Amino acid sequence: GKSGYDHYMLKEIYEQPQAIRKCLRERVNEMEGTITVDDLADLESSGPVQFVACGTSYHAALYGAQLLRERGIPAQCFLASEYDVDSIPVSEETLVVGVTQSGETADTMSALRGANRVGATTVALTNVVGSSAARECDHAMYIRAGPEIGVAATKTFASQQVALALFSSVISGECSQAFVEALRDLPDQVQSVLDNSTAREVAQTYEDADAYFFIGRGYNAPVALEGALKMKEITYKHAEGFAAGELKHGPLALVTDRTPVFAMVSDDGTAAKTLGNVKEVEARDAPVVAVTDSRETVDQYADFVLEVPETHPVLMPILANIQLQLVSYWIANRLGRSIDKPRNLAKSVTVE
Ligand code: M6R
Repeated sequence: GKSGYDHYMLKEIYEQPQAIRKCLRERVNEMEGTITVDDLADLESSGPVQFVACGTSYHAALYGAQLLRERGIPAQCFLASEYDVDSIPVSEETLVVGVTQSGETADTMSALRGANRVGATTVALTNVVGSSAARECDHAMYIRAGPEIGVAATKTFASQQVALALFSSVISGECSQAFVEALRDLPDQVQSVLDNSTAREVAQTYEDADAYFFIGRGYNAPVALEGALKMKEITYKHAEGFAAGELKHGPLALVTDRTPVFAMVSDDGTAAKTLGNVKEVEARDAPVVAVTDSRETVDQYADFVLEVPETHPVLMPILANIQLQLVSYWIANRLGRSIDKPRNLAKSVTVE
């Protein structure tokens, strides 16, 4: 059941500390400062990596590809429905990773079958043991989020992010003590975001907006896309996410005093540029909601600040996303939407 929550989605948002703990269990060795994933014990890979995924899982995959590239591994990300082995350079050297919560998404399955046909090594990053993707692939890494009932992916996205952080360490062989400690602290930090969030006030203030925009740079760019997808899916309102730098190349024309802009501002070297983008939307009178680990940097520019604790820069987007989940949830709740089963959508999309 819903354990006293009004919706499965809210329950699942609140289950995130536990979901992340399970994803980390026996994979992170704090004493030795190492990460090992038994699921991938027999995986040998030194070639390029291609991710295939849809929807929220695609946003997680974008983050996974960033992490690998940052660690020196060529990595690309494809929408599974656009992945065509005849027009994309994929070979026996390629590691193809299907990111799919359900392990049943038709587009992702078809991409993985194509990759197997040309002899690539395949990995399913999935939540469901024995799912079609797990069976199709040479390897399966489980995200261990537990069953997710709400159509909107919440805890499974957080678990995918964490699993991909582990995956990138395993593939690259790169890991630091600081990173291991940040992972250890992550579940408690997620709990503190849940306990202290003022997202409900933000929802109350902006439930009537014409549209919502989400901007972020670097690791927060995929979270901007995810924030917008969640908003569309459960509130039925127009929302779009952009890499912050893209705003001025077109979308800025849509910005008015009726379009709140959610800006992820992370103290990771990208803050100054993102603040530049925030000033651009402010000049058009758009309300600004900053999601940030450095309140002092944004205070004077933001109408609302949704704070997250300081962490390793790689993990900040995991915390930021939780604030965005809560804002979307509370807007959808105020609008009386069918939150767990949004119109026209299915939990698992089994047609191409
Ligand atoms: O089961 P999958 O991860 O393969 O599903 C992919 C998408 O259909 C899914 O993430 C969808 O975008 C979510 N409902 C979004 O909340």
